[in-house]
Amino acid sequence: MAKRTIMAAGNWKMNKTPSEAKAFVESLKGLVADAGSEVVVGVPSVCLPAVVEAAKGSNIKVAAQNVHWEASGAYTGEISCAMLKDLNVDYVIIGHSERREYFGETDEMINKKARAILDAGMLPIICCGESLTQREQGVTAEHVRYQIKVALLGLSAEEVSKLVIAYEPIWAIGTGKTATNEQAEEVCGIIRKLVAELYGDDVAEKTRILYGGSVKASNAAELFAMPNIDGGLVGGASLKLDEFEKIAKA
Ligand code: 13P
Repeated sequence: MAKRTIMAAGNWKMNKTPSEAKAFVESLKGLVADAGSEVVVGVPSVCLPAVVEAAKGSNIKVAAQNVHWEASGAYTGEISCAMLKDLNVDYVIIGHSERREYFGETDEMINKKARAILDAGMLPIICCGESLTQREQGVTAEHVRYQIKVALLGLSAEEVSKLVIAYEPIWAIGTGKTATNEQAEEVCGIIRKLVAELYGDDVAEKTRILYGGSVKASNAAELFAMPNIDGGLVGGASLKLDEFEKIAKA
């Protein structure tokens, strides 16, 4: 079975203005044109039009960082899948631990978002991961399995084979404390096994599972070389051209 295409996905979080975003992607294009990986930039919603435009004709795909699951209506401040699709957005990051923690997102909401994103013809990047307490309590596997099982409820095998899952241990996010290759591989393997239980081995062989949490140019290659890790969801290091270029080529 051919190895899945490695994905290097940046999650800019609440960083860069539309003009900064445009300039960054214009520079990034040339740097990653020959990267063997699928390069994705996850940018703030207001940057999406400029970034989609800047990425046109390049191998860079564009992700939103959030979306609402309803098609339209009285949801002040929210953005729908149709709006993102109209801009030609490819992916939507959902279930990030920061959205779960600061904005009260639940597994059920993440499941509804995944459904809406797929219905609109885009692909979700579904985040999961345990806190330090949960790791110390020894419930990492149960927690992550629960998060992913609920996120995938009602999705078809075909859909699950195309979407992306990102394992991001909360204690490794923005802390500089990367999970070891073995820790990251272990949980990504647990997730792949769950997908196999739910959808069969063929689907599990296709679903891409990323690791996120203090991925840098210096540790990306060894993480991405692990059998169950198909790339990275990168925060801080994706804001720097030279770092992100190296990660995309790792
Ligand atoms: P850092 O790479 O800054 O640790 O952030 C990881 C992350 O949250 C990506 O979604």
